Amino acid sequence: MSVVNCHKEKCLALTFDDGPGPYTRQIVDTLVAHGAKATFFTIGRSVAADPETVKYAHDQGMAIGDHTWSHPILNTLADDAVTSELSKTAQAIEAAIGSRPVGVRPPYGAFSKTTPHSGMPFYLWDIDSEDWKNRDASMTTQRVVSAAHLGGIALMHDIHPSTAEALPGMIEQLQKAGYKLVTVDDLMGVRWILREPTIRHSK
Ligand code: NI
Repeated sequence: MSVVNCHKEKCLALTFDDGPGPYTRQIVDTLVAHGAKATFFTIGRSVAADPETVKYAHDQGMAIGDHTWSHPILNTLADDAVTSELSKTAQAIEAAIGSRPVGVRPPYGAFSKTTPHSGMPFYLWDIDSEDWKNRDASMTTQRVVSAAHLGGIALMHDIHPSTAEALPGMIEQLQKAGYKLVTVDDLMGVRWILREPTIRHSK
């Protein structure tokens, strides 16, 4: 039972948006088998439809984030509509896992300086797998591995079979290069300050 200290280790955060979906459990199982963690930025209406998969991911040590209820472009909405998108999703996540989401991934990375946060940090990304576009396991892997860097946050989507297929080889290459794969809140060191470590698996 230990939490990776990203002040000392070469940490990188894999993130998966737009689930839960049919490949989410497979992706979680691949992460667990490799001793890796990741963050799932979930769609609220999908969480409400399949809370068990979200709980499964959380129980395996994954972080769960808020990717809005219906995937709108937030900076085209009125503030109260943004707050509703985020808070309804946060409530669905809390009902599924018993705790609040770690933060928000705004759809398309779109927000403005005045976009409400509903009390949660926004997490963007700086490594883009383009998995939604290439739908190709080797291209997805290549884009993440070639752009990997200390403190990086990689964007993927757990709704594509090619992403699930890419993951074992991608993780093995990243780990061979010395990366510790962690959740976004581990990456930011937030866990050290705000709360006790959640369930950890030492596989
Ligand atoms: Ni999305």
